[in-house]
Amino acid sequence: MAGRVADKVAFVTGAARGQGRSHAVRLAQEGADIIAVDICQPIDNSPAPPATPEDLAETADLVKGLDRRVVTAEVDVRDYDSLKAALDSGVEELGRLDIVVANAGIGTVGVRLDRMDEDLWQEMIDVNLSGVWKSVKAAVPHLLSGGAGSIVMTSSVAGLKAYPNTGHYVAAKHGVVGLMRSFAVELGPKNIRVNSVHPTHVNTPLLINEKTFRLFRPDLENPGPDDLAPVCRTFHTLPIPWVTAEDISNAVLFLASDESRYITGVALPVDAGSCLK
Ligand SMILES: NC(=O)c1ccc[n+]([C@@H]2O[C@H](COP(=O)([O-])OP(=O)(O)OC[C@H]3O[C@@H](n4cnc5c(N)ncnc54)[C@H](O)[C@@H]3O)[C@@H](O)[C@H]2O)c1
Repeated sequence: MAGRVADKVAFVTGAARGQGRSHAVRLAQEGADIIAVDICQPIDNSPAPPATPEDLAETADLVKGLDRRVVTAEVDVRDYDSLKAALDSGVEELGRLDIVVANAGIGTVGVRLDRMDEDLWQEMIDVNLSGVWKSVKAAVPHLLSGGAGSIVMTSSVAGLKAYPNTGHYVAAKHGVVGLMRSFAVELGPKNIRVNSVHPTHVNTPLLINEKTFRLFRPDLENPGPDDLAPVCRTFHTLPIPWVTAEDISNAVLFLASDESRYITGVALPVDAGSCLK
């Protein structure tokens, strides 16, 4: 049986690990070839340990293990020229582009907005909002020349509701919704669909790291994931602390595939009922 995205080519940002790797693998399982990019370097204020070139190579091995082709590049989504060069050369090698998953992002520890440093604010906007715009901007000419396409942007529950002390993240992720809707109206007549996914907590290094444990559980000396879980569970209607990257990949796959062929401009939560609270 043909895969759900058979013979399509997908561009995935932030693909070295976490959700990006999972999206690349899930799309490859359903028949897509992959252009996988990641910064593979530390980001100034990010508490998560950095992804590495070895992580990106592992993503590539996983895709190859599924008998799909893969092209990788170490690129910062803030650097439009490098991003465009990497994507252009990936498309040249794989022959086309059908799917964009603008997933790369960071979560940095915030404070109240009126007390936030300009650097912390600007870094967040540059990566989580402008980086998404640049990723899609680089991809649009290729989608236009193919005559169709599906773009999926990764926002967050924080793109649909606000939390205190993380206003830079909330603003960037709400901005992704505006970007998604704007691209959707501009590109719809060209048969290009644009949607966003809104994960709740996902058990990737962005969440599951030492500094986040300490942030959520300042009452404990050596908090770990088991101490974080009950706090995360309070965000949800369903009785779980977090979802897996694969849960988000299944939504991305649906939006990328022709099963959603008339769905555009939609902000899809994968949130265990977080938005109900
Ligand atoms: N994990 C969560 O709880 C959660 C919840 C909601 C939304 N999100 C969003 O999901 C997306 C993926 O995050 P994840 O959970 O997989 O985290 P992750 O830290 O495991 O993976 C993020 C990847 O993006 C890459 N990246 C970061 N900045 C980059 C840049 N400037 N250029 C290129 N690559 C860059 C990182 O190197 C890393 O490999 C992010 O946009 C994040 O904001 C995460």
